[in-house]
Amino acid sequence: MREVAVTAPAKVNLVLRVGARRPDGYHALATVYQAVGLHDEVAARRADGFSVEVRAEREMALAEVPTDHSNLAVRAALLLAARHGVPEGVHLRIRKGIPVAGGMAGGSADAAAALVACDALWGTQLPQERLLEIAAELGSDVPFALLGGTAVGTGRGEVVSPVPTSRRLWWVILESTVGLSTPEVYREFDRLRPDAPPDPQVPEGVLTALRDGDVAGLGAALHNDLQAAALSLRPGLAGHLEHGRVGSAHGAVLAGSGPTCLFLTDGQAHAAELVERLSSHGLGHVSCAPAPAAGALQLR
Ligand code: C5P
Repeated sequence: MREVAVTAPAKVNLVLRVGARRPDGYHALATVYQAVGLHDEVAARRADGFSVEVRAEREMALAEVPTDHSNLAVRAALLLAARHGVPEGVHLRIRKGIPVAGGMAGGSADAAAALVACDALWGTQLPQERLLEIAAELGSDVPFALLGGTAVGTGRGEVVSPVPTSRRLWWVILESTVGLSTPEVYREFDRLRPDAPPDPQVPEGVLTALRDGDVAGLGAALHNDLQAAALSLRPGLAGHLEHGRVGSAHGAVLAGSGPTCLFLTDGQAHAAELVERLSSHGLGHVSCAPAPAAGALQLR
């Protein structure tokens, strides 16, 4: 039986500026997303109903991934079918390479991959603008997972526009086996930052550093407004970030709402060195990945 397989990348936020909570409950964001070479794969085959199975490449908080219709990949398939009159169902097999509840938008990657896979399987063949619209309904980070590369995100994160970069970057990624809840981190942000502005902006410096391939400048510009909130909920993460800084990374920053820690390095050799050094501390799984990576991509 035909199976369509699609990969989608994890994301990092080079800059994540969070504004005030909006009337719809979401927060205004101004962010610079970058897709990194850490992927989930979603394989789709025709079925009568909608179902999903999930496995992981290594130890992860898999228990936190729903395997019913609340799974974001299943919701993506259901939404595509509903909006475009598809009379069939699908069975999805997800292989997770992106940490679960890690702040790297793994669930959003699964949704983006499921959209592309079902679109190919069912022959709906939607233009990318339509897929991006459906993606935005599913979650704030889903459009970026479709697009990949490097992009500025505004709105609640769902409005994405690509930005030019001139250099491949190497990230070191320190995972945690216990995830953090994104809504909880946002709630803590609200408590700590009642003064958050209504219209956060991406600072020009980070875009200049990206365009010029200035890794040191980029390292200095890394910023995440959710970091203080995540550290308040999980104080031990401060030590994890410090370990990477000591390892002479250009910069250390929390991934999205955490708890994954990210370190920007000089290149592949430096990244491999830092992976070895951080691994020796036994803090969690450590890997490195190049960026920018492509968005959701059909493999077969
Ligand atoms: O958009 P998504 O479903 O991925 O968001 C998950 C949760 O993160 C939301 O329910 C909300 O609590 C929080 N969030 C937010 N503002 C954003 C994005 C996410 O408050 N811009």
